[in-house]
Amino acid sequence: MKKQLFLVMFLVGLLSLPFCLTAQQAVKSKTKTDAKPVPAVLSTASEVSAVAGFAGKGEDWLIPSANLIFPDLPYAYDALEPVIDRQTVEIHYDKHHRGYFNNFKKAIAGTDLETKSVYSIFADIDKVSTAVRNNAGGFYNHVLYWSNLSPDGGGKPTGELLEVITRSFGSYETFVQKFNEAAKTRFGSGWAWLSVDPASKELFISSTANQDNPLMSTEEKQGFPLLGMDVWEHAYYLKYQNKRADYVESFWNKVNWQDVQSRYAEYFKIAARIK
Ligand SMILES: [Fe+2]
Repeated sequence: MKKQLFLVMFLVGLLSLPFCLTAQQAVKSKTKTDAKPVPAVLSTASEVSAVAGFAGKGEDWLIPSANLIFPDLPYAYDALEPVIDRQTVEIHYDKHHRGYFNNFKKAIAGTDLETKSVYSIFADIDKVSTAVRNNAGGFYNHVLYWSNLSPDGGGKPTGELLEVITRSFGSYETFVQKFNEAAKTRFGSGWAWLSVDPASKELFISSTANQDNPLMSTEEKQGFPLLGMDVWEHAYYLKYQNKRADYVESFWNKVNWQDVQSRYAEYFKIAARIK
């Protein structure tokens, strides 16, 4: 009798084995799908943690370029309406920006640039290929751009940031006027910037061509960017067509001054480590 009971239990166990394996595989594959992809070439725990929390803030860019990931858009595609329409944000982020990221990774693959930070690449930008220059710039500039904007943006800067803007330009209104001038008069595709001057620690306005930025060694006036306005037609043409000036004026309604302020504060923490 005992023998028969054992035989029955053995057969039941054998028959239920495939179901157990299927359940285990399902858990395994769910875990795999849910996990954020972690790129290769991670050498220290702090690098892994930096990648996992990568949001494109000042310090995030100190990691080796091979470890950079494409960050999420910090809001929904339609969150910047009516200043920037849904379709423009979707195409701009998902096609243009993602394209710069993918092409940057391709351009540095297998080279020693994989071990260098983006800051370090920018500091010697005349020594790299056009593909690295355009795509490193395109990737970095757009991370700043999305982070510089917010659905709850607009208004005026306050506190320390307002003080330094007033000190550097005379008033907030003069600053906006000069910035807009730089954005409107940039011929063809490019960017307008507000940056920190590493020598005087004051702020300055400049504009750059293509996907260049003020960190690049080829710029006449170099600095640490706090705020970037994309004036490529892909940033505004669907809604504003040829009226770049209207986009430039509207942009201020979505500026995330907290982000600009935090970049200003971060600069002084990482200035010595940028090169
Ligand atoms: Fe763009």
